[in-house]
Amino acid sequence: MHKAFVTGYPIKHSRSPLIHGHWLKKYELEGSYGAIEVVPEDFSDFVSTLQQNGYVGGNVTIPHKEVAFSLCQKRDSAAEEIGAVNTLWFEEGQLRGGNTDAYGFVANLDASASDWDKQKSALVLGAGGASRAILYALKQRGFTDVRIVNRTLTRAKELAGHFGSGITAHEWAATPELLQDTSLIVNTTSLGMEGKESLSIDFSGVKPNALVTDIVYVPLETPLLKAARLAGLKTVDGLGMLLHQAVPGFEHWFGVRPEVTSELRDLVLADMNGGQQK
Ligand code: ATR
Repeated sequence: MHKAFVTGYPIKHSRSPLIHGHWLKKYELEGSYGAIEVVPEDFSDFVSTLQQNGYVGGNVTIPHKEVAFSLCQKRDSAAEEIGAVNTLWFEEGQLRGGNTDAYGFVANLDASASDWDKQKSALVLGAGGASRAILYALKQRGFTDVRIVNRTLTRAKELAGHFGSGITAHEWAATPELLQDTSLIVNTTSLGMEGKESLSIDFSGVKPNALVTDIVYVPLETPLLKAARLAGLKTVDGLGMLLHQAVPGFEHWFGVRPEVTSELRDLVLADMNGGQQK
């Protein structure tokens, strides 16, 4: 039986076991996928004993993604560019690491708004770890004008420098002006997440065909997405990114490329709603 895991600290709110558990059942595979909480000081030992403990691989989340990167013998190009690993598997006896966040972002937009990448210009809010994955994804898709705005300008500049031509860094205060001629607006900050401050943006004057997407998915419709919808803009929520980023890992561990379906989405949504009532 193939055994996989998701590890983080904390990990109990992870919805990955629900997603992979659904696919294991759907494809009638003998396998397991469980959540394992590992404190940072134990993470290296955890990784070095994976095979010994019968694991074929797993997902890694906060705060272990950067250490996971350094422990892998080989990494895919997304992980190399993003500087973090969220998926581990074994190949030719070696520990391999990948980053599937950029894939998840792109696959979600491809599935929900097929012409999202026609204009090749985007405004990215935030310059943290999540932003790196989005910038990598946009570059891969051939975007030639990507503006990063961030509260801390130096972080935005650092990212722009890392990803090179076509990517520029701007003060947060420049957002209203930068929005005017942007076709894709992506929130990669934690603002708007349940329990955090919301992100308020004035969408008047934004191109009517602009698309707004958020990587935050709790709540599903963040205040940002609601404001965009009320301004008549197209929106894509962040739940799809979570579902799609899980696909490559499942394929590595269990040998079947799973499908992201409305059934899976409903299952995770029901869990989120149940969680909110508790
Ligand atoms: P992650 O790895 O999940 O992206 P992170 O590295 O902590 O998390 O980055 C969080 C992002 O949200 C950053 O862009 C952060 O801005 P700073 O670089 O200025 O810290 C942004 N962010 C978090 N709280 C914010 C707030 N209250 N106002 C504006 N931006 C905020």
